[in-house]
Amino acid sequence: MIDLHCHILDAIDDGARDADDSVAMARQAEADGIEAICATPHIRHDHDVRIEELAGRVRGLNERLERELVAVRILQGGEVAETALEGLGEEELERVALGSGRWVLLEPAPGPLGESLLRRVGQLAERGYGTIVAHPERHLSADMFERMTALVAEGALIQATADFFLRENMAKGMLAMAEKGLVHVLSSDAHTVLGGRPVRISSALERLREVGLLAPHMEWIAETAPSAIVNGDPLEVPFAPRI
Ligand SMILES: [Fe+2]
Repeated sequence: MIDLHCHILDAIDDGARDADDSVAMARQAEADGIEAICATPHIRHDHDVRIEELAGRVRGLNERLERELVAVRILQGGEVAETALEGLGEEELERVALGSGRWVLLEPAPGPLGESLLRRVGQLAERGYGTIVAHPERHLSADMFERMTALVAEGALIQATADFFLRENMAKGMLAMAEKGLVHVLSSDAHTVLGGRPVRISSALERLREVGLLAPHMEWIAETAPSAIVNGDPLEVPFAPRI
């Protein structure tokens, strides 16, 4: 498994507190069967992430994980706020795209999923990138499934937060989203081992197996899609939204 959304780089945003926290997060991932993690710090006005330093930070963490015999590989990436997108030059965009750089993890602006997000999916396509919409389930509105469907029709993929499938108060809504075919990949969006969501995907994948529409596509969701995304390989979605 590959975790496409994780704040594992330390002291760079609101993620890992220090290097030990990063290593502990990687150990959590390893225990879950995750072999690679995209480091996705917030690219957003309230976090001063130096994009040109990301490659060195990723290399440093990979070296430490090797020394500590943790079998998890860190890949470069970012969680790009939709409001930050236009300020990014071509080189910067390439550096914050996931893995080998054909897909951008795009964080919707606060509030309901808006028309602006849809426009930005189109802008990213013009710049040669696919869009993965980060945790749209956090942007509630009565017509959120219609809005997600419009994003998917524009070529976007939906990244749902794995841990939400396991929370009593959220599981029902998450499964409803999955039943409509509005989940393409699951990620942890973990920030630290000290609290909140763990770096864990497998239990949520088990829950997805119970969803009729997605059940035949679990291999695609768990392995094919994440691996094509980080490798920049062509990707065709084998199911369509049904709302
Ligand atoms: Fe995040």
